Amino acid sequence: MEHAAPPAWVMLAYLISGVFFILALRGLSSPATSQRGNRFGMAGMLIAVVTTLVTHEVASLPEILGAIAIGGGIGWVIARRIAMTDMPQLVAAFHSLVGMAAVLVAAAAFLNPVAFGITGADGLINPVSRVEMGLGIAIGAITFSGSVIAFLKLAGKMSGAPILLPLRHLINLTTLAAIVGLVGYFTIDQSPWIFWTITGLSFLIGFLLIIPIGGADMPVVVSMLNSYSGWAAAAMGFTLHNTAMIITGALVGSSGAILSYIMCKAMNRSFISVIAGGFGAEAAASGGEAKEQRPWKRGSAEDAAYMMQQAESVIIVPGYGMAVAQAQHVLREMADVLKKQGVKVKYAIHPVAGRMPGHMNVLLAEASVPYDEVFELEDINSEFAQADVAFIIGANDVVNPAAKTDKTSPIYGMPVFDVDKAKTVFFVKRSMGGVGYAGVDNDVFYMDQTMMLLADAKKMCEDIVKALQH
Ligand code: TAP
Repeated sequence: MEHAAPPAWVMLAYLISGVFFILALRGLSSPATSQRGNRFGMAGMLIAVVTTLVTHEVASLPEILGAIAIGGGIGWVIARRIAMTDMPQLVAAFHSLVGMAAVLVAAAAFLNPVAFGITGADGLINPVSRVEMGLGIAIGAITFSGSVIAFLKLAGKMSGAPILLPLRHLINLTTLAAIVGLVGYFTIDQSPWIFWTITGLSFLIGFLLIIPIGGADMPVVVSMLNSYSGWAAAAMGFTLHNTAMIITGALVGSSGAILSYIMCKAMNRSFISVIAGGFGAEAAASGGEAKEQRPWKRGSAEDAAYMMQQAESVIIVPGYGMAVAQAQHVLREMADVLKKQGVKVKYAIHPVAGRMPGHMNVLLAEASVPYDEVFELEDINSEFAQADVAFIIGANDVVNPAAKTDKTSPIYGMPVFDVDKAKTVFFVKRSMGGVGYAGVDNDVFYMDQTMMLLADAKKMCEDIVKALQH
């Protein structure tokens, strides 16, 4: 039974929703236009959902409205309650739902192909639909189990350190080859065991691929899973003959892939080395070296205020700790006071600072920091050599010189800010014991020109503002 092509107005409505999604992505590429981008996205989604509901007799209206109310209610409560610092794990959890949805759609289509209009005259599922289904279920299942592991690691419910299985590369390659082989074989034989074996192996490989990835490589994994969830949705769009799903899935898939590429470049990693997993893991897995006791200097809010007032230029490097402390507003206040006193202030943002892409940009935008004071790594790194003060607030891995010098470090190769070249460095964190995401010590703490400002980031900035005003 072949599926009749949908009426022209439906195709047009789906196309319009696709255009809205493209405008949404365009808007989301800058904090200044991101709200408009989100509105475009919502409009596109509304058109797509309403068109689908009007044209498909999928279920009765009360059933659909009931499902929307339950799902929407849960989403609404989660969105209201979630702390900004927990966003990365929430995103990972949402990706797992997209993966699971793809698995469920593929399973439903396999169990009742006639209802999906994907059977031929012989009553068997069309070979093309079997390829779509096989790919959909494989990508969906990998996305699901991979995202669950990413969620557990990001939420701290599972160690962030790489977990290395012996022979992992061999096991992974064999499992992947088996999945590809079975998806191919599924086109000539639609026996249930093949379908369910693809599903089981894909769940397994998603799990195996993500557990060896640790520390600093998690950002790449999150954007990679984002990309997979898009491709899974696109594959399901083919099974469901739904153009909007194909367009949206492809947009998510390709923008996630581009983001992964950008992240890999930012981390100076090859895509393959991240996917293969366990990068820099040997050093981290051995527990690292025992920390030696080295001398360091403690500074006060008054020291920082005094030195920054004397400075010509100050570069602020925010990181995850600024997000934890929600210090962005008072940080901007501090910068405002300094600017009024004639100091040149710039913000330096590392591509993986914080815990999700654009994390720092969003927080600084929320605090109304002017965009022209915010600079990317490659645009500002050469300026540290001329800067009087580098003010590091809640950042750690992104300023760690071990990334440049220590081949055994899990962050080796990642480009970092050259804060060690600034005349004076202030390092705001809560304790000398606390480490960054990658769990490694930082030589910047012990440099001659470094003063440690040990306190909660927000409290420290408040104290500095007070000292500056006196
Ligand atoms: P981190 O290296 O994680 O360092 C955070 C620092 O903030 C720590 O030194 C911590 O020390 C301090 N801190 C925490 N809470 C604080 C508070 N309330 N007040 C003051 N300081 C506080 O941060 P980063 O430099 O932003 O680096 C990001 C890391 O996360 C990279 O390794 C990156 O690969 C990884 N990562 C990034 C992403 C994305 S996409 N951005 C996603 C996942 C992982 P104390 O505990 O002593 O205060």
